[in-house]
Amino acid sequence: MLKGKNILIGVTGSIAAYKIPLLVRLLVKEGANVKVILTDSARNFVTPLTLSTLTGNPVYSDFFEKNDGTWHSHVEFGNWADVFVIAPVSATTMGKMVNGIADNLLVATYLAAKCPVYIAPAMDVDMFLHPSTQKNIERLKSFGNILIEPETGELASGLSGPGRLQEPETITEIIKSHFQKKKDFKGKRVLISAGPTYELIDPVRFIGNFSSGRMGYAIAEAMAERGAEVELISGPVELIPVNTSINLTRVTSAGEMFEACKNKLEWADVIIMAAAVADYTPTTASKIKIKKKEDSLSVKLKPTVDILKYLGENKSTQQVLVGFALETDNELENAKNKLKNKNLDLIVLNSLKDEGAGFGHSTNKVTFIDKYGAVNEMELKQKYEVASDLADKLKNIL
Ligand code: CTP
Repeated sequence: MLKGKNILIGVTGSIAAYKIPLLVRLLVKEGANVKVILTDSARNFVTPLTLSTLTGNPVYSDFFEKNDGTWHSHVEFGNWADVFVIAPVSATTMGKMVNGIADNLLVATYLAAKCPVYIAPAMDVDMFLHPSTQKNIERLKSFGNILIEPETGELASGLSGPGRLQEPETITEIIKSHFQKKKDFKGKRVLISAGPTYELIDPVRFIGNFSSGRMGYAIAEAMAERGAEVELISGPVELIPVNTSINLTRVTSAGEMFEACKNKLEWADVIIMAAAVADYTPTTASKIKIKKKEDSLSVKLKPTVDILKYLGENKSTQQVLVGFALETDNELENAKNKLKNKNLDLIVLNSLKDEGAGFGHSTNKVTFIDKYGAVNEMELKQKYEVASDLADKLKNIL
């Protein structure tokens, strides 16, 4: 199953490192080429000799070979790997990964890696549940890293709770299913918009919104993962696509997003407008900074182009168009009206009433409504899982 696949395992200092020789053995048995990087601290829990014997490859920890000074290139490791699994990943290493502190070979390789990265945390329950750890996990997920959730159970410390490294058999299954993923969008061209737009008032001020871009970026990753050619038109967000095949165009305003989408309309088989485009923009942006005055200040606004509507009016019958609707009330009815009025094939409804849904969360709860009248209310899920559900839904429509 894993024949010819290059799997890089990063091991950090956690008692759970004792499970890694078994993981390596299972992966090698499946035909994978396995290389291992250990942090210094990991060497206290598992020996390089065990792992090099099981993998048939040298085990690395340092940038240089101490006896002859040979350079171990983190960039080469990053390029070699089809998938990088960091298991167990400690709280310290996650903190370094989030902040780009590349003071060891493992974190330097992480920063250089172009392949999907799986992280499997293992630590005591209190460390795992600490806001710092939880925040770091959220940040890593926002970089596109895939979390292998720790199990809940008895921990090495004697405490009980979440924090136990997943069993090697489970991690092996996750890696196997990673490679089994369908390439069912091969040959399809998908245009996706993401993030907010900023409408300038003057050189230092703008009207914007809270969109983080995570939903649109997750869709871009899911589509690229399934073989699609992806054009991502992104408003101002901090994210960068993980999959290097994604072609990214950055824009700022609704006007720029409209031009970028219009240019790609003919090219696309599927168009997904996940961006939170501003509905209004200042009639004129002042060239100089507006000075504070005693009395009130009014900014006159004019409507922006409704990009989704334009795309609906100008698309061919073969092209599939998806819109998003963020609603606070009368959700289903409003979304159905948007679907019809904008000539969409599918609309993804978010309700701000649902906890964990909408802007700023790594999760989302959506309802898919298609032009044939089917309504699918989904559970609260991670945004990358919502993206995968959307891909499945689109596959049916296509
Ligand atoms: N959208 C767009 N161009 C705009 C505004 C919105 O393409 N100028 C797209 C968004 O990307 C999203 C969909 O329209 O896919 C829904 O946006 P929303 O603001 O909810 O809908 P509106 O039609 O603007 O209606 P309202 O704001 O009144 O709810």
